[in-house]
Amino acid sequence: MKPFVPQKLPLEQVEWGPLIPLIASANRSLAFFDGVLQGISNPELLLSPLTTQEAVLSSRIEGTQATLGDVLKFEAGEKPSEVQRQEDIREIMNYRRALRQAEQALKQKPFNLNLLKDLHATLLDSVRGRNMARGRFRTVQNWIGLPNTPIEQAHFIPPEPELVPEYLDNWEKYYHMQRPDALVQLAIVHAQFEIIHPFLDGNGRLGRMIIPLFLYEKRLLSRPMFYLSAFLEEHREAYVSHLRSLGQTSDAWNAWIEFFLTGVEHQARANAEKARNIMALYDRLKEEVITLTHSQFAVPLLDKMFAHPVFQISQLSWKNMPTRPMMNTLISKLKDAGIVEVLRRGSGRRGQVFVLAELINTAEGKKVV
Ligand SMILES: Nc1ncnc2c1ncn2[C@@H]1O[C@H](COP(=O)(O)OP(=O)(O)O)[C@@H](O)[C@H]1O
Ligand SMILES: [Mg+2]
Repeated sequence: MKPFVPQKLPLEQVEWGPLIPLIASANRSLAFFDGVLQGISNPELLLSPLTTQEAVLSSRIEGTQATLGDVLKFEAGEKPSEVQRQEDIREIMNYRRALRQAEQALKQKPFNLNLLKDLHATLLDSVRGRNMARGRFRTVQNWIGLPNTPIEQAHFIPPEPELVPEYLDNWEKYYHMQRPDALVQLAIVHAQFEIIHPFLDGNGRLGRMIIPLFLYEKRLLSRPMFYLSAFLEEHREAYVSHLRSLGQTSDAWNAWIEFFLTGVEHQARANAEKARNIMALYDRLKEEVITLTHSQFAVPLLDKMFAHPVFQISQLSWKNMPTRPMMNTLISKLKDAGIVEVLRRGSGRRGQVFVLAELINTAEGKKVV
């Protein structure tokens, strides 16, 4: 197998006819999702479990094992015993940090290759990829195959390193072009990025991180908060096999685009449902916490718990917050009412760990806590 020579974008051979129904339904679902997003007054806060979950699932496609619960517990000071699991969690937290960094950066200027390198540096900050030319495009040949197998047994060999700058330049220009349909364009942007494979590691995760950014810049979303990894993880084999076909035959593009649009259509509906469930939970808990505590601190406390659904009391802090004894009383009322549960009893210097289980279960779409 030789290094692949990709096509330049825009592609010539996309057949629009068969895609039209899917284009329509995927755009409709995404617009519906965006409507839900626009109805949430503070989506960064309320949907923060979904952002963490995206980081978990996108990293899982890469092979990490940690769960949303593991990450949230880690943040509350509960470290897993296995070193591997700790590394996984750190990678996931880097991923989430990179997502937020990207959201901020796009407020200043449009997406560009320097931002991509910055995001790569954040993603691989002091984890397994630290020797993987952090924040730099590759200057050596890489290949995709089973772990620790030589290039002779590769499934796919991305373009020669000398060609990477030229293909990235073409890719970046295409990203900013006006094309007939932005979702089809995004399918192509993602796949071409994976084909170029410009980094030594982290290409899959960065390629997936671009999805909400692109949709936001193309104004299909009011905020860069649409996450596709749940679908891609669930259909991991199909995802990878479609990508692999693109390196084998130029006829494979239509099938890839169909797969991608199906994913957007499905995931936009699923995410809209989740976002609505989280919002409904927030509204209900707000009433309950106010009624229970009659406290001016009810809403700020609830907001803090949404940002940190697993927590120790000492970790909840905000401006003008109540005294510690009052915090203890408030949490104790919530505990008696079953709104929060004790995840781990305190002992010695270790504080009690509480969990807002309903939020985690709602974000996961099933009972996990
Ligand atoms: N045959 C292939 N052709 C192109 N891209 C592929 C192929 N197989 C897998 N991929 C992409 O490569 C990613 C893995 O590359 P890698 O650099 O290890 O990224 P990460 O570390 O984020 O998983 C997969 O998630 C997938 O998006
Ligand atoms: Mg990898």
